[in-house]
Amino acid sequence: MAGQISQRFIDDLLARTDIVDVVSERVQLKKSGRNHTGLCPFHQENSPSFTVSHDKQFYHCFGCGAHGNALRFLMEYDNLRFPEAVEQLASRAGMQVEREGGDDPGAKQRQQKREQGVNLLELASGFFRERLALGQGSAARDYLERRGLSAEIIKAFGIGYAEDDWEALKRHLSGQGISEAVQVEYGLLVHREETGRTYDRFRDRVMFPIRDWKGRTIAFGGRVLGDAKPKYLNSPETPVFHKGRELYGLFEARQANRQLSRLLIVEGYMDVVALAQFGIRNACATLGTALTSDHLQRLFRLVDEVVFCFDGDNAGRQAARRSLATSLPSMIDGRQVRFLFLPEGDDPDTLIRREGPEAFENRVTCANPLSEFLFEQAAEGRDLKQVEGRERFVTAVLDALKQLPAGVLKSLLLKELSVRSGIDQSQFSDWLSNHSAPSQPSSSDGEGFEALMPADDAERGVDSFSGLASDIGGEERDNRGSNRATRHGAPASRSGAATLSLSLPARILHLLMHEPGLVSELPESLDWCPKAMPDGRLCRDVVQLLRAGRYRSPQVLLAHFHGSPDGERLDQLARRELAIPRDVRGSELRDWVRHLERESERLTPAEEYRQLLEKSRQPGALSSEEKQRLRELIGTLAAGS
Ligand code: UTP
Ligand code: MN
Repeated sequence: MAGQISQRFIDDLLARTDIVDVVSERVQLKKSGRNHTGLCPFHQENSPSFTVSHDKQFYHCFGCGAHGNALRFLMEYDNLRFPEAVEQLASRAGMQVEREGGDDPGAKQRQQKREQGVNLLELASGFFRERLALGQGSAARDYLERRGLSAEIIKAFGIGYAEDDWEALKRHLSGQGISEAVQVEYGLLVHREETGRTYDRFRDRVMFPIRDWKGRTIAFGGRVLGDAKPKYLNSPETPVFHKGRELYGLFEARQANRQLSRLLIVEGYMDVVALAQFGIRNACATLGTALTSDHLQRLFRLVDEVVFCFDGDNAGRQAARRSLATSLPSMIDGRQVRFLFLPEGDDPDTLIRREGPEAFENRVTCANPLSEFLFEQAAEGRDLKQVEGRERFVTAVLDALKQLPAGVLKSLLLKELSVRSGIDQSQFSDWLSNHSAPSQPSSSDGEGFEALMPADDAERGVDSFSGLASDIGGEERDNRGSNRATRHGAPASRSGAATLSLSLPARILHLLMHEPGLVSELPESLDWCPKAMPDGRLCRDVVQLLRAGRYRSPQVLLAHFHGSPDGERLDQLARRELAIPRDVRGSELRDWVRHLERESERLTPAEEYRQLLEKSRQPGALSSEEKQRLRELIGTLAAGS
């Protein structure tokens, strides 16, 4: 396995790169004063609020809040992962990426492979489209016609057909010189370990290409023509496809609308396509997963208004509650989220066929605003005529409000809560400040969700970290300082001191102690994990041990640390019950990591310097890495002034 990219190399790389060049290769910039400005590529806007600072080597958008350095820009703009962005910037600067523990000849190869992969998926997509048009495709054509899709829509979405043959695609791609190994890696071929044979993953299915924002095919969903199971087969996770990040139909929606102002989030491929057939061209779908904060970030870059469509049944309401909780931290002023509940038994596809586009549009227009849905959820199952019911109602709303960034929406909701509960507003502000002890922000579907659950299902399927924290030592009361938490609008813990939550590195450790295999979900470099945070160093150690491959089970891991304070800590975490449902653990983990990445970015060198300096006042408190970092920072700050 390749070593980490060395920090020295990254510093060097950034020093030799001018962010203004990097950005202007992709966005038209105009010089204005000391900065450069332009239309933000990360959200739709008419007047420029995107600025790039040559002095600070940072970009910042006053509209959507996107910001970062040249690497972050590439990651966001080109949808690259960190090491890939480094590769790209390095090749631009004519530098060879240096990794700890020597050169990494694999890097170039990986980059090449990624490009090859996308090409390969394009080839496959073309092949499927061809097959749909040919003789083999007649049953699929009939099927699509029965489902009411026109040739125009089939073309716009690039829909195709994988014929009923075990090796049709394999023959085609191999004929073009593409190795089977690559076909397997990108999910087109299945490799059977037992027999060593390979065969086409998609057979006799209608094929929906999933495209990235540039329109490049990155994966497929395939639907059976009949009733066989599974109804939809999706590409597995591959180097270019991460289910929790992608939305089906987003590219097509952007193609069809020069100005998008609202996006509709539905559940299925067919919903997106059927809506488009009826002229509603702004729908997209998550790919059989719950909404993640990644999805939401992507959506809010494009539009200010997001409308979620849910089935009217219990599962639909449950999904809506999750989406509400995921949305809260993103609700800066100017953004809107609404909830549309469909009649039971319908999905957008069936509904629009029955009611027509106008009636459907009307439903969208009347969809429940976030505030309504929030109050409704908080009231559900509670008797507001009784004091206890009212108290729980208020608590649930306040818990949710703590997840909201400060702004007009938050003030309005507090006012509304006061009206609905008959409690004076001043008491809420006391409550909010008294109870918002500094704590780790919950990145997504965690705590707010729990608060909003009606009393009886709050126990189920929820990450219940909070409330369990009392067995953890005082270090949880974290080293971050309350000003920091409020400055970033970071949500506070659920209900104050009694329920202080775990630090993010601790949560990650906790998850890994229960499911070590999840280590494969973590980014290659450990840069996201700050050593200075509680459990940060231990988290790094554990990840490295797991990666080394000898510690597959928590027991072995515990044995490794046995008898040390680290061992005790891990033991503590291992005993803690893990209440995150299995199928969302990977995405939770990725959310947390991303949150840490964002946090670490926010620390300016001056802030980091101050923090380290503060810490250095206690003798022996700084590790040797931290001392080294402090020296670097002094150098950086001196050079800058
Ligand atoms: P649904 O079962 O609601 O199907 O799955 P649908 O979208 O209404 O499809 P049609 O109308 O029967 O063709 C919703 C979504 O869940 C994922 C797919 O993304 C699908 O679009 N799904 C469903 C799968 O990934 N696999 C399955 O087997 C079923
Ligand atoms: Mn359907």
